Amino acid sequence: TSSLPIFSQAEVTKHRSLEDGVWVTYKGSVYDITEFVTMHPGGDKILLAAGGALEPFWALYAVHNQEHVLEILSEYKVGEL
Ligand code: HEM
Repeated sequence: TSSLPIFSQAEVTKHRSLEDGVWVTYKGSVYDITEFVTMHPGGDKILLAAGGALEPFWALYAVHNQEHVLEILSEYKVGEL
C-alpha cells in the first residue's frame, strides 16, 4: 500500500528539464529523477526519457536490466500514474 499521490500523464509531461524537474514513469509509478541526472553513468541520454516512460529506452539499453538499477530508481519515487 502506498500513500503517495496519483499523477496524470499530463502532469508528468510538464517535467522534462532540469529547470522544471525531470520526471519519468516506469511500470505505473512516477519518479522525480532531477537529482540523479548529473550522476547518471550514461550521461545526458537520460533526458531523452524526460516527461515520459523509461520502458522503450531500457529495452534498447539492456545495461539497466539489473536489480542495482531498480534500487537506484526506487529512491526517486514520488507517486503513481
Ligand atoms: C548506464 C541508471 C535512464 C542510457 C546506466 C547505469 C545506471 C543507469 C546505474 C550503469 C549501469 C552499469 O554499468 O552497471 C539509469 C536510471 C535511469 C536511466 C536510474 C532512469 C531514471 C536511461 C535512459 C537512457 C540511458 C533513458 C537512454 C536514453 C544509458 C547508457 C548507459 C547507462 C547508454 C551505459 C553507459 C556506459 O556504460 O557507457 N544507467 N539510467 N539511461 N544508461 Fe542509464
